[in-house]
Amino acid sequence: MRTAPSVRYTGLAVEEVSYEIRGLSAEVEFETVSSLRRALKRLLVHPLVNYGPAGLTRALLRFGKSELAAANWADPGGWESMVISYRQNCSQVADRLLIHAGTMPMALRNRKRLGSFLIARLIEQARAGPVHVLCLGGGPGWVIQDALAQTRAPARATVVDLSAEALEFGRQMAARRGLAERIRFIQANVSDLHQYLHDQANVVKMLGLCEYLPDEQIVSVAGAVREMMLDGAPMVFNSLSRAHGTDRFFRRVFGLHMIHRSPGEVCGLMHRAGFRDFAVHPEPLGVYHVIVGRRAADAGRD
Ligand SMILES: C[S@@+](CC[C@H](N)C(=O)[O-])C[C@H]1O[C@@H](n2cnc3c(N)ncnc32)[C@H](O)[C@@H]1O
Repeated sequence: MRTAPSVRYTGLAVEEVSYEIRGLSAEVEFETVSSLRRALKRLLVHPLVNYGPAGLTRALLRFGKSELAAANWADPGGWESMVISYRQNCSQVADRLLIHAGTMPMALRNRKRLGSFLIARLIEQARAGPVHVLCLGGGPGWVIQDALAQTRAPARATVVDLSAEALEFGRQMAARRGLAERIRFIQANVSDLHQYLHDQANVVKMLGLCEYLPDEQIVSVAGAVREMMLDGAPMVFNSLSRAHGTDRFFRRVFGLHMIHRSPGEVCGLMHRAGFRDFAVHPEPLGVYHVIVGRRAADAGRD
């Protein structure tokens, strides 16, 4: 594992939050883009999709029967658009272009691989056994299913999501993968955790959620889940940068408004909720950083 020097981040209202950057390119099979292709996208493709007529782009996507566009129009950034990006077996030309060549779908797949790799290792490192992984806004639970499949360590998971369809999709996938007995699916709002969850969580996963929640809700959800964790237990979450280059396209064409936060900013929110010792793992496209924070002891809270 390559370990870069630790970076101090000072632009937070709360206080300084330091974190360590760790590259995992040797361990995780990432999708990357050559510098030439990256430059072509920045100079030609991104201006075209960001500043071209949104109505015409929407009409072309509708005419081309794009499943990714339809999923985003129905539920911007929801679980189904995520599954379409993960699955990569689309039949429409428009989707093949968007999903195979688009920076964001590639970064999403990188985040999934990085997240499942890290969670599998955290399960193996946990002192308790069997380990309980709590997945907040987990969609169908694809990431945790990949993580469980990567380790022999005894572990079970609870996936919490608002969407009944996401959970049903996840149940069927878990059955196919022989994981049905190990995953509980709960349809609920992550803001009401204490109403339906009472068992301890050894690892908490909050991937793909923070970019849809305002600051105060992140602090409140992370603070509530912290009460279910032991000191030092890990919480896995992510930041989102504008490096994908297509935020204007997402907002105008898909109606998708994501909240971009640097690793320092999202660590700052988790710090307010009572987490510390942040290890930040970038994926090579620079869009997502997957971050592991540790529950601070009560005495260490603000
Ligand atoms: C972008 S998807 C991410 C799915 C999954 N975590 C992944 O990374 O593949 C976001 C998910 O969060 C769920 N979600 C959003 N707000 C939620 C809330 N307040 N409570 C529970 N689930 C929520 C959505 O239903 C959706 O399935």
